Amino acid sequence: MKFFIDTANLDQIREAQALGILDGVTTNPSLMAKEGITGEANILKHYVDICNIVEGDVSAEVISTDFDGMVKEGEALAALHPQIVVKIPMIADGVKACKYFSDKGIKTNVTLIFSAGQALLAAKAGATYMSPFIGRLDDISTDGLGLIADIRMIYDNYGFDTQILAASVRHTMHIMDCAKIGADVMTGPLSAIKGLLKHPLTDIGLAKFLADYKKGN
Ligand code: G3P
Repeated sequence: MKFFIDTANLDQIREAQALGILDGVTTNPSLMAKEGITGEANILKHYVDICNIVEGDVSAEVISTDFDGMVKEGEALAALHPQIVVKIPMIADGVKACKYFSDKGIKTNVTLIFSAGQALLAAKAGATYMSPFIGRLDDISTDGLGLIADIRMIYDNYGFDTQILAASVRHTMHIMDCAKIGADVMTGPLSAIKGLLKHPLTDIGLAKFLADYKKGN
């Protein structure tokens, strides 16, 4: 299972990278705005800064909603750095753009997936990744993890290569549940990733080992 961090915060990306378990980064316009990164030039520079911190794929989202605009923007994003994955919204022109990029060998991440039917379209269009937003489904009393399980079954039925990138992950249990279902990738906040470290018995056990060592030395 690949671990992506879902943020545009460089300190958090550095911290996750330093743990040695990071496989990539996802961003979106809201995450950029949260870090105060505005204006095209600053946004493009920020993507390159992120690529220079991590070794894996970095999703950069197009703002256009028409095919021509997405192609122009996506090609410029892909030219920024070899690690860039063009992130495209799940709309009709987005599906067309996804097919265009996959035919050209440019990596894609189809985002804002909320149904298995949308996931099937993304796979048919040759998406590298597709991002079902599990937290936002949970927010409206719909089973986000159930969607991941449905997509896993459909992709396995037909041997689709598109990777299920569980997104809108909010907490540590989301990560573990996605791992049990077989999501290929999860993207979440640093807090959810660090939550995996924690167990009180680890802390108690370590304290005892250190205390016993001190007794003998
Ligand atoms: O990866 C998608 C993510 O950025 C959305 O998360 O918490 O805004 O639903 P959230």
